[in-house]
Amino acid sequence: MKKIGVLTSGGDAPGMNAAVRAVVRKGIYHDLEVYGIYGGYAGLISGNIKKLELGSVGDIIHRGGTVLYSARCEEFKTKEGQQKGIEQLKKLGIEGLVVIGGDGSYMGAKKLTEQGFPCVGVPGTIDNDIPGTEFTIGFDTALNTVIDAIDKIRDTATSHERTFIIEVMGRDAGDIALWAGLAGGAETILVPEENFSMDDICDRLKKGSERGKKHSIIVVAEGVGSGVEISQKIKELTNYDTRVSVLGHMQRGGSPTASDRVLASRLGARAVELLIEGRGGRAVGIVKNELVDYDIIEALETKKHEIDMGMLKLSKELSI
Ligand code: F6P
Repeated sequence: MKKIGVLTSGGDAPGMNAAVRAVVRKGIYHDLEVYGIYGGYAGLISGNIKKLELGSVGDIIHRGGTVLYSARCEEFKTKEGQQKGIEQLKKLGIEGLVVIGGDGSYMGAKKLTEQGFPCVGVPGTIDNDIPGTEFTIGFDTALNTVIDAIDKIRDTATSHERTFIIEVMGRDAGDIALWAGLAGGAETILVPEENFSMDDICDRLKKGSERGKKHSIIVVAEGVGSGVEISQKIKELTNYDTRVSVLGHMQRGGSPTASDRVLASRLGARAVELLIEGRGGRAVGIVKNELVDYDIIEALETKKHEIDMGMLKLSKELSI
């Protein structure tokens, strides 16, 4: 393999730049030419591709977002779109592709692999919902952003003796809510992976209030539903003074944490090694702090991301 490409796709995540840097530098270290595809799969279809040098990825390791830009691309879900993408790569003699993104991006990488173009998936999403890896790039940074917000909200919640519902991202996964809720000392954490009852939530609130708690924090994963609606129901059932804070896209921004930069560097470099070894069609991940790789097609068809139910149980025990 002499030429490889790299793209970022789907929702951006802090640390994507560190991963791009690792791919470019590791590739050049091994005498490869590395091409950046700008704007995700949309840029692949339109041929928005430029050769990257060592200096192209200088001064980006600490930056949020992605210098390669990102997009969600409907056209790439079609066979024609995928074929157009492969043609663009072949025109430049690119023989392998590193795809940094979440599950939608992995689906694109799987399709390309099935059509004979070797790809390696690098998990980049704040949602931490990629099967086969314990952590995704961007999750730790998003978590710290959410905790910072919870701490600030806690100050005002205490002053006003209010119940705050904080809605966080995560799409269909509850990892951000669970980890941030546990780290932020939330009274209740609602995740899509577990059913909940409004009566239980209200009982916990009442018990807390009876033993003198001045405020309550409820962290709701967006996959559960609207924080505003949950807040309205709590108000109806308890008459407590409730407020809602939907954290939104701020969770996707900011300078990546050290942990995300290290993870991104390790995973990006490993992806390049796999392409050099002629092992396309893989996804890389981290399990018990060891780098792993596995079949990307199999992963999307058989593996399922799972939340740590033990942590959820612990959060309930600690917030009585
Ligand atoms: O996948 C990352 C993510 O931020 C999810 O948590 C969220 O549901 C979604 O992307 C939002 O997507 P968009 O930026 O397209 O609104």
